[in-house]
Formats: sequence, C-alpha cells, structure tokens
Amino acid sequence: MALKDVGNKVPIYKLKTTDEVMKYYDEWGDKDKYNKDMLEWNYTGPKETVEVFKKHTENKEILIFDAGCGTGLVGLQLKKFGFKHFHGADLSQKLLDSVPNNLYQKLIKVDLNKPIDVQDNFYEATMCVGTFTFGHVKPQALDEFVRITKRGGLICFTINEGIYKEYGFDKKIENLKQDNKWVELEFFKSDYIASKDVNAWLGLYRVK
Ligand SMILES: C[S@@+](CC[C@H](N)C(=O)[O-])C[C@H]1O[C@@H](n2cnc3c(N)ncnc32)[C@H](O)[C@@H]1O
Repeated sequence: MALKDVGNKVPIYKLKTTDEVMKYYDEWGDKDKYNKDMLEWNYTGPKETVEVFKKHTENKEILIFDAGCGTGLVGLQLKKFGFKHFHGADLSQKLLDSVPNNLYQKLIKVDLNKPIDVQDNFYEATMCVGTFTFGHVKPQALDEFVRITKRGGLICFTINEGIYKEYGFDKKIENLKQDNKWVELEFFKSDYIASKDVNAWLGLYRVK
C-alpha cells in the first residue's frame, strides 16, 4: 500500500531546525491561536493518550513529567481524570506562559533533543504527546525518558505516523525492548488529527 503524504498536511511539518520550530510555536501561541486551531482540527492526541494511560494507573498521586507540554492540553486531560501532580517541559516559552495557572507544579523550558536536567528515576510516569513529529524531537529522547522514569513507572507517547520509520522510532522502541529497558503494554494507530487524515502511533511502556 502507498504511504500517505503526511508531511504536507500541517505547516509545522515542513520545519527543519529546532530554532525554526521554537519560533513557529512562539508565534502560534499568540492570542491563544494554538488552542483554537487544535479545537478546530479536532486534535484528539491528549484525550486518547490520557485515556490509555489511566487504564494502567490506579494511583492518582503519582508525579508525571509532561515532555513537550505546549499549552497544557495533556495536563487538562490528566486533571479531568483526577491526577494532580505534573511537571511540564517545552521548547517554547510563549506556550509555557499560556499554560493555565496552577495546573502544573513546575514548568521548565527545555530542548528535549539534549540531555534533560532531571535526576535518574525521578518521575512515576512520563507523557509525550504530539512532540514526536516532523523536525521536533528525535528518538534519543526515549532513552532520557527511561532514565528519568522510576522502575515500574510508565512512559506514554504518540509518534506521528509519517516519521515513525523515517526517524528510526521503530528501531529505538525495539532496541529498548531487546535491552530489557521496558515492556510494551499498548501500541496501536490512534486517530490523533483525523480531520487532516494524520494518525499517530500511540505507545505505552512500563520501565523495567
Ligand atoms: C504539537 S505540540 C504538542 C503540545 C502538547 N503536548 C499537546 O498535545 O497539545 C508539540 C510541542 O513540542 C514542542 N517541541 C518541539 N520541539 C521541541 C524540543 N526540541 N524540545 C522540547 N519541546 C519541543 C513544541 O514547542 C510544542 O509545544
């Protein structure tokens, strides 16, 4: 079957460098435009991911790292299901500034393509939604997520279908399994941005 031309569906998919990505999001955050667009596009990534995550997590007291938190859409979904403790990290200060007050206990500006300034085994769970996409964050970030997440903790993410193989996410996920770093609990093609015919792989893994 021919591959879908996912790379031309959304303007950000054409960006190449981290600097271009940061500037784009800084502008997209102006006047709440990012949130408005996500509503209009019927972007379901945060809702779908948190629904899968909560099936495997009874303890609502856990501390969750939201990698690439943007405007906090994942935090809002987590809160809806009774989770309370989240830290958010993102490249765009403009988006971080637009996160609703008191939703996250801590917000930090980071480049997730670099080592994350968090000690080993710190979080009970790491979420990363919408951030593994064209020109954004590379598969090596998954090694960092494994490092900062406690043994027995969960890592839950989406990967845009258009970069899954091209960027080597398939190999990275397999290597982490082979190296006994995590076990797969869920992995399937989610709706993500169905209005634009862009789907994403949704994965949930338990750290060993
Ligand atoms: C499609 S948005 C998803 C935001 C949020 N998780 C959501 O689902 O609405 C992608 C996010 O990745 C962030 N991002 C892109 N490249 C990044 C990088 N190298 N390091 C950290 N965040 C990055 C962007 O600033 C943006 O907030």
